[in-house]
Amino acid sequence: MPRKISFINYKGGVGKTSLIVNVGAALAQAGKRVLLIDLDAQSNSSLWLMRFERWNPLLKQDTGHLYTIFTGANRLKDCVIRDVVAGNSEGKNALHGLDLVPTTFSLVDLEETGETEGEAPPYMLFQQQLAEIEDDYDFILFDCPPNVLTASRCGLFCSHEIYVPVNPDILSLIGFTLLADKLKQFQQESACHRSSSMAPPVQIEGAIFNAIKANLDVTSAKLRIQVRMNQLKGKGVVSNAVRIFKSQVRDAVIVPRSVTLGLPVCLIGAKEQGTGNTVQDDYRSVALEIIDNEASVKASRESCVASGLSPTF
Ligand SMILES: Nc1ncnc2c1ncn2[C@@H]1O[C@H](COP(=O)(O)OP(=O)(O)OP(=O)(O)O)[C@@H](O)[C@H]1O
Ligand SMILES: [Mg+2]
Repeated sequence: MPRKISFINYKGGVGKTSLIVNVGAALAQAGKRVLLIDLDAQSNSSLWLMRFERWNPLLKQDTGHLYTIFTGANRLKDCVIRDVVAGNSEGKNALHGLDLVPTTFSLVDLEETGETEGEAPPYMLFQQQLAEIEDDYDFILFDCPPNVLTASRCGLFCSHEIYVPVNPDILSLIGFTLLADKLKQFQQESACHRSSSMAPPVQIEGAIFNAIKANLDVTSAKLRIQVRMNQLKGKGVVSNAVRIFKSQVRDAVIVPRSVTLGLPVCLIGAKEQGTGNTVQDDYRSVALEIIDNEASVKASRESCVASGLSPTF
């Protein structure tokens, strides 16, 4: 059974895509089989990992990208691009194990059609088709837009864990709070569609500080998030084991540069990589914390189920 993880915050531009691409790559480097599913119509992680030249033809195709599973043109398994980064680096790339389900701007049409009364919601179709391929992976990562609308709901319905990327500002805190609120609404609405064989509804398991400038003191920003997490615990959307990650990701110009190069940062040479002094090391530390978090997430979910606390609406 893979670990299924959504990266989401109601605040845009906090680093959801940068984290998921680079943490996904770090997990693949650690020998894990990773599937990244792009749930954002902006298509940022698809554009990053495929580069524009490979992604652009998808715009004219009615198969091979996420939206086409909702039109019935193909199934999710037919949209998977294996070892996606290998196609950008002329055989030199040693990164195997990172697969992608790409998306295009057409995904925005899913928000327009939304959920029709009397019909199964799109997240159920998504969940059924994901079940056909999920055992091929150790991690399935959902790059969500900054909302809990139709596309995000696909990831959230299937996820076991949510990690919230935050910047050290008040807007990220507001985004966190709004996310918890909207997640709760969604858990209530979708409860009738959860079968007994499914895992309990997803909860927020952690916050990851991103794009931290050198010498910036983030103590009070961390305290604010911690206080909010504590207030929200026990209400069904924030896990009892929730925590701020020990690792944080520094602000580094190589991150936007790596988008242009169509590579995760770990594949861009940095002599100091491995010393703990680079943003590549930060992403690797986040990936290792996610790997290490498995036992505590599992224990918290089991205690929730045993005590009847999940879901609490
Ligand atoms: N650690 C970092 N150092 C420097 N720049 C960063 C870092 N992380 C992200 N950025 C930059 O910040 C911007 C927003 O990042 P990103 O696209 O990952 O955020 P997002 O939360 O996915 O945004 P959206 O809500 O639009 O999906 C991008 O230009 C990205 O290159
Ligand atoms: Mg994004």
